[in-house]
Amino acid sequence: MLVGSNRTPARLTLNQTRRMNSKFTFTVNGQSRTVSSDPQRPLLDVLREDLQLTGTKYGCGEGQCRACTVLINGKASASCVTPISEADKQTIITIEGLAEGDKLHPVQEAFLAEGAFQCGYCTPGMILGVVGLLNELPHPSDDDILPRMQRHLCRCCHYPKLLKAIRRAAGQTAKPATPK
Ligand code: FES
Ligand code: FES
Repeated sequence: MLVGSNRTPARLTLNQTRRMNSKFTFTVNGQSRTVSSDPQRPLLDVLREDLQLTGTKYGCGEGQCRACTVLINGKASASCVTPISEADKQTIITIEGLAEGDKLHPVQEAFLAEGAFQCGYCTPGMILGVVGLLNELPHPSDDDILPRMQRHLCRCCHYPKLLKAIRRAAGQTAKPATPK
């Protein structure tokens, strides 16, 4: 006997089957890609499992840690809560697409210069979060930086160096970290 409400339908309807096989085309790191997927599937899963772009990390899966941040049309977005249908015809940058050949992006350079990581698990999302911030505000103040970057969780609690790296990337003089 089946108990509770978690029963799987014995058969999918034709419409459900069609939806599961919808096609989506978007640009990732300068390349056009097409995937066949359930429209509700998270962009994070498509990047990691279908396109093998594993630099984008899974943390909470609920939009709370920002480890999975990518740029969608230049805007920092949590890919774990972005259905693949919303990525259709959009332009996506993951951490793999940030450097130009051997030349790192200035935000990557700033993270290296300040040693702004320990285990590095949060780092791809942090870096893309900073790039997204600088796309919107090229010269952010601490009042701009702190509320935005507080969305990003770092399990190693490396926040003082992260703040220094963000200030460096933003072209500010490094100041003692005094998070509010
Ligand atoms: S894994 Fe996406 S916000 Fe945590
Ligand atoms: S450096 Fe380890 S989670 Fe941030």
